Amino acid sequence: MNNEINLPNHVGIIMDGNGRWAKKRGLKRSLGHKAGADNLEKLLKYIFNLGIKYVSVYAFSTENFNRDPEEVNYLMDLFVKYFTKKKKIFVKEGLKVIFSGSRNNLRDDVLKGIDSLEDATKDLKKGTFNICLNYGGRLEIVDAFKKLYKDIELGCFDIDHVTPEIVSHYMYQDLPDLDFVIRTSGEQRISNFMLWQSSYAEYYFPQVLFPDFDEKEFDKALEEYNKRHRRFGGV
Ligand code: IPE
Ligand code: IPE
Ligand code: MG
Repeated sequence: MNNEINLPNHVGIIMDGNGRWAKKRGLKRSLGHKAGADNLEKLLKYIFNLGIKYVSVYAFSTENFNRDPEEVNYLMDLFVKYFTKKKKIFVKEGLKVIFSGSRNNLRDDVLKGIDSLEDATKDLKKGTFNICLNYGGRLEIVDAFKKLYKDIELGCFDIDHVTPEIVSHYMYQDLPDLDFVIRTSGEQRISNFMLWQSSYAEYYFPQVLFPDFDEKEFDKALEEYNKRHRRFGGV
């Protein structure tokens, strides 16, 4: 990549198209998810080595529980394996791994995998990798309201003094706003991904399916990001 490129501070990736990737090859959907997970490992290394500080990925939405239990179970098994196997790699790369999502309805082994990965990487500083799992943007806002309400009741602050900045601190993770959101597979929708954090994000919808979204595709995405003129309401 050219050094003069303007890097987004926080990139979001809606990793879509694993099922179609597998179908095109006459494979089971599960193999598409496996290919997606393998691709993510290479992609993350590349992105953080460029100097990007925050990456959030959409791994499993609250709505994805509506899928066939066999697929849901396969995905949960894949997460547990991925978290265990990749822990050393995250530590070696210096990446802090955090999770966003609801703990409700998640299997104990998934929760254990989440806690152990967060704990093993909590002091690492090269970059922050946020995994949205059992995540819904609306649920995150509702959960934030509940926590905020409790603190107001406790007298931590007055309702009249609540600002958007304060609300941001009540999200699952205290993250900077998203600058750039990429959704692979050509679908042009948000599907409940980080609604609060993406209010001024630039969006990019490449046709390529997530298992094929490689380093070159990421470079293309960055080129596109660099063509955007972010105005934030100004001129
Ligand atoms: C994204 O790929 C992965 C998850 C939602 C877990 P999909 O499984 O949605 O793939 P398509 O959209 O069916 O191709
Ligand atoms: C969004 O993809 C969720 C993830 C990528 C994890 P979906 O494939 O679930 O979204 P819809 O159903 O097409 O909107
Ligand atoms: Mg999909």
